This record gives sequence, structure tokens and C-alpha cells, in this order.
Amino acid sequence: MLRQVILKTAASRRARRAIEATPLTRAVVDRFVAGENVPSAVRASEGLHDAGCLATLDYLGEDTTDRAHAEHVTGQYVALLDGLADAGLTGMAEVSIKLSALGQALPREGEAVALDNAARICAAAARAGTTVTVDMEDHTTTDSTLGIVAQLRRDFPETGAVIQAYLRRSEGDCRDLATAGSRVRLCKGAYREPASVAYQARTEVTQAYLRCAEILMAGPGYPMLATHDPELIVAGTRLAAGRPEGVTGYEFQMLYGIRPTEQRRLAEAGHQVRVYVPFGEEWYGYLMRRLAERPANLMFFFRALTSR
Ligand code: FDA
Repeated sequence: MLRQVILKTAASRRARRAIEATPLTRAVVDRFVAGENVPSAVRASEGLHDAGCLATLDYLGEDTTDRAHAEHVTGQYVALLDGLADAGLTGMAEVSIKLSALGQALPREGEAVALDNAARICAAAARAGTTVTVDMEDHTTTDSTLGIVAQLRRDFPETGAVIQAYLRRSEGDCRDLATAGSRVRLCKGAYREPASVAYQARTEVTQAYLRCAEILMAGPGYPMLATHDPELIVAGTRLAAGRPEGVTGYEFQMLYGIRPTEQRRLAEAGHQVRVYVPFGEEWYGYLMRRLAERPANLMFFFRALTSR
């Protein structure tokens, strides 16, 4: 219920203006967001490297209907990839992109613009010696996003896709994507979706995640299990033990600032752990989704609002 309210608030322009105008202390944003610019994202990657983790970096922003802004986002990613290469970090850091930030929602030619911008980022990543994963957004974009990933993979076969376990279609998508050379991130899903397309109950989503994880972990691709859920991490570890490639054939993924002790514990136990590191000025939508996932974070948020 509270999750629905927060997600509704996230979509409201008026609520957004009110919250952005609040003297929100840096502590709240800093917990989940690694600064506002490329140097701060590079610094966060260095910290993760020292902690034995890998990183995937996300320049925050989504849903642009402005072509110039989509160009700007593309440029930021290219600058980021150059920064990672200069810092010698492309062995441990890749990037995550949102097609809606690259123009997917532009009228008429949105898909072509997003594909073109994403291909430029993939080319920069390939030059730098790293990879790109294409985030998944709300269900109205799933077909378009999977189609664009398939096109990107013709020239950049290492491009990663994301599957959201809460979507009823996802087991089928996992079967299609569980092929050799395919990198697939499996997450529960973070958007408010109707019951016609998505499981609503927590237990149903967990069960769906398990079914999808079994498909991906039984296949010859490279599964990326993105979850903080203790039950799913135990299940992932069990499935991983049966894979012939050993620890290099899969990875766990978690979000920056969420369960950092568990991130280190898994890394110390020998698993590959990649941390999703968002950075940039457009932190609002991202932060609201994190709050919706865990209403206990609201206390953290309100304490920061009232502290000086
Ligand atoms: P769940 O939310 O049930 O959490 C399990 C436990 O983890 C909690 O009980 C708590 O202990 C801890 N926890 C979880 N969230 C917390 C928080 N915010 N603060 C503190 N503790 C917390 N979604 C999407 O739709 N498209 C995408 O492309 C991606 N990409 C993506 C990448 C990566 C690397 C991750 C980890 C996640 C995503 N997601 C995503 C988000 C994902 O869909 C999902 O919303 C979150 O991961 C939360 O689901 P969990 O599986 O972690 O379980």
C-alpha cells in the first residue's frame, strides 16, 4: 500500500517539485547516489575496487522527450567511459543505460534515436575494453527495449539485457535469452505495473524470480543475479554451485548503498559482486523507487529532512 503511494508520488510533478525544494540533506542522496559528476563516479568505482567488488555505472535520468538532452546523456556516458579508461578501471567497471534517457520516448523516431545513441555508447565501451547493460523500464517499453538490445548485440554481442521477474512474460524471455554469450541481469522489477502483466504479491514475485534464475543458471549464458533478498541470494549460491564455469560464469549484483556488508561478504566468499552505482543530478526518480522498495528507508529520509 505504502509502496503504491510512494510510486504514485514519484510520478507526480507537483510532489516532485515540493520534495526537490525541500532542504534535503546530502546524507540522504549520498547514501544511494555516488555524487553528481564523472569524477565522483570514478572515485566511487575505485572504492568498490578496493572492496573487491565490480561496478556498473548509471548516469541518472530517464524519460527524456528532448533530443538535445538525449545527446547530452550520450556524451556523459562517453566521457565516463574515457574517465574509467584513464583511471585504469575498465576491467572492473561497465555502464548501465536507460533507453528512455537516450530518446526512446521521442515521438515517431524515438526508437531509432535511442538505438543510435546506445550504439555510440556501446562503441565507446568496446574501445575502452568494457561492456554496457541496458536497464529495463516499465512494461510498455519491454518489447522495444529487448528489440533494441537484439540490434545492439549484432555489433556488440556482449551487451547485457535486463529481465524483470515480476512480469508474467519473463520466463519466456529468460528462455529466449539463455544462450551462449548472452549477459542477462535478473531483477524483481521496480515499477508500478498492473496485475494483467505483473505478479503483485511478494511471494509470487519471489517464486517467479526463482523460476527465471533456474532457467538462466541452467543455460550457457552469463547470468547476473540482481537482488538484495537473502532468500534469493541463498538460492543463487546453490544454483551457482552446479555451474561448470565456476565463479567466473555468473555474478551477483546489488545497488550502491544497499546491504554493503552483504556485498563485501559475498565478495570475500569468492563470488563476483557488481554494485550498481547511480550518479548525476537527476536523482529524484531513482531515490523514490528505492524508498518505495523499503518503506523503512522513509525514516532515514525524514530524519535527514529534519536534521541540520
Ligand atoms: P527486496 O526489495 O524484497 O529486498 C530484500 C531485502 O533486501 C530487504 O528485506 C532488505 O533487507 C534489503 N533491501 C532491499 N531494498 C532495500 C533498500 N532500498 N534499502 C535497504 N535495504 C534494502 N529494476 C528494474 O525494474 N529495472 C532495472 O533495470 C533494474 N536494475 C537493477 C540493477 C541492480 C544491480 C539491482 C540490484 C536492482 C535493479 N533493479 C531494477 C531494481 C529491482 O527490480 C528491485 O526493485 C530491487 O532490487 C529490490 O528488490 P530485491 O530483489 O532486492 O528484493
